[in-house]
Amino acid sequence: MRRLPLWRAVGVLGVLAAGCAGPQAPSAVTGRALYQAYGCASCHGPDGRGDGPAAKATPRPPRDFHLPTPFRRGADLATVSQTIAAGISDSGMPAYKQLNPEERNHLAVYLLSLQPPAGDQRKTNS
Ligand code: HEC
Repeated sequence: MRRLPLWRAVGVLGVLAAGCAGPQAPSAVTGRALYQAYGCASCHGPDGRGDGPAAKATPRPPRDFHLPTPFRRGADLATVSQTIAAGISDSGMPAYKQLNPEERNHLAVYLLSLQPPAGDQRKTNS
């Protein structure tokens, strides 16, 4: 017989309620601010075009987020968020384990907002 103690159920509900009130929905505006604050621009460039000052030093070129080409690791929100946490070994993309999931989701939404819409085959200049 398993019984959920009442205090425990109340605690879980409290955490869920705080979670709903607390974190913002992922926002590209917040993501852009975090992108600048955490130094992503040093490699990926001020506007995400892969042309930051440190880009020359990475073993692989940092991604240009304006290109329509597929992400190496997958381009859904959860995967991009996970890529930011895990980094990409041997490429120069660091692991940002210190960021919480909410911050990574803001970043991911911002990066994905830079990609041209599906079907738009515009070429960018890099
Ligand atoms: C030291 C340079 C450097 C910094 C700083 C950096 N990146 Fe990267 N990033 C890279 C490189 C290089 C790649 C390309 C990896 C590859 O193609 O294998 C990459 C790839 C990525 C990808 C994966 C793209 C794909 O194809 O799946 C994401 C997402 C990403 N970076 C996000 C970020 C975010 C967000 C930050 C800041 C929190 C950041 N990067 C900071 C160098 C950097």
